[in-house]
Amino acid sequence: GRTGLTRLAAPAVAALLSLAVLATGCTGATVQGRPGASGLRDPYFPRAGNGGYQVEHYDLDLAYDPADGLLHATAVITARAEQGLSSFNLDLSGLKVESVDVQGTGARYNRTGNELTVRPAKDLKKGEVFRTEIDYGGRPKPVVDPDGSKEGWIAGGDGAVAVGEPVGSMGWFPGNHHPSDKATYDITVTVPHGYEAVSNGELRSRKEVADGQTEFAWHSPEPMASYLATVAIGRFKVTTGRTPSGVPVYDAVAPGEAAGSEAALGRLPQIVDWGTEKFGPYPFGSVGSIVMPAQTLTYALETQTKPVYSGAPDEELVLHELAHQWFGDSVSPKSWKDMWLNEGFATYAEWLWSEEHGGVSAQRRFDAFLAGDTSVDPHADGDWAAFPPASPPGPEHISDDPVYYRGAMVLHRIRQEVGDPAFFGLLRGWAADHRHGNASTADFTAYAQRRTGHDLKKVWDVWLYGEDRPTAP
Ligand code: ARG
Ligand code: ZN
Repeated sequence: GRTGLTRLAAPAVAALLSLAVLATGCTGATVQGRPGASGLRDPYFPRAGNGGYQVEHYDLDLAYDPADGLLHATAVITARAEQGLSSFNLDLSGLKVESVDVQGTGARYNRTGNELTVRPAKDLKKGEVFRTEIDYGGRPKPVVDPDGSKEGWIAGGDGAVAVGEPVGSMGWFPGNHHPSDKATYDITVTVPHGYEAVSNGELRSRKEVADGQTEFAWHSPEPMASYLATVAIGRFKVTTGRTPSGVPVYDAVAPGEAAGSEAALGRLPQIVDWGTEKFGPYPFGSVGSIVMPAQTLTYALETQTKPVYSGAPDEELVLHELAHQWFGDSVSPKSWKDMWLNEGFATYAEWLWSEEHGGVSAQRRFDAFLAGDTSVDPHADGDWAAFPPASPPGPEHISDDPVYYRGAMVLHRIRQEVGDPAFFGLLRGWAADHRHGNASTADFTAYAQRRTGHDLKKVWDVWLYGEDRPTAP
């Protein structure tokens, strides 16, 4: 009967009304906002990140006890609305949300999958800077990548470590988890007495607080992509110092890995200053490393200012992760399709370091790879030519060999075309031009041509985008 019809019709009428409001451009005095998008349409991770706002600062306050593996946390996120917002999303995987406040007032929220949707009591205006406070906690679950690797918050070995490439950071804090939205960070970690807690940036304070706990306050004043945020908790051996040019160094090493790490970490200060010479000023206020017990993770990561290693690293790996501080961390990809801008550059940095420090030349590596002999590189284990580096066949392939090695070979091809002075000018110029920003492959190819004055179209067509296996130039 009648009531039934009304009940059916009401949602339809509401939907039509909201369509009408959208169509007329939301001009009504009471209707200012509409929902922010639940993803940024990344070509490989379409749901990663969220639309309608940009984060300016994350203030994360974490308490963790390795004995029970429980995390208690508060995230205060300062963001700027890019449209009127009736609701907006954050990415968060697992954990329990206890409360959400927006601008100091309780907000309604709900969760579906990895999306936390927040509905502020009052719509947010376009351009408004707003503060969202989220209390959350629980036992973090690792995030499994399309390529099968595990990341997020990884407990084990009498401690824990958080890494997030590409989408693991949503496993330990709510945020706009896409590299295109960089922000500054304050990360404060409280752990039981006897543990060290290490994070990105500089240590502002370390103090004994109530109940036999120690609180570590870390500050990152330069913008950071959320996948590069880290926290490491353990009974680390901490060493501090400076590079010859004066960059502060902070190394935290699992006791069992100390002897094995000594040689490579001993070279770290020199590597940083070499990078400055090759790529331009070191982009951050400090540098260092976090060495976790072997097998804690399946990969090392260039977490900003302090790369994380799973077991003692060798010199090439330290060089690789430090090169990422310029290429990946300071100049970050606009989307996950641009991953070769990270990995090709960091790999080529290894080739450059090697040729200048008594190893084989980049030209010899290039020639050997081209001839099908990858034994010159102990880390290469797949087919470098399987696909074009600027176009991995799917999200599970963004960390495959072509992104690293064929990416490096793209750079070597440019060097062959333009010569050393123009090539090194290009590397420095690229790092300077996009310092603390984001860039895409198209930005790079346009920049390379403009900067060197060479037509590099054939290099792009064959090496960067070509589906066929490249042959000798
Ligand atoms: N960017 C890291 C490195 O080259 C590797 C990260 C791999 N991530 C992954 N999910 N497989 O040092
Ligand atoms: Zn890398």
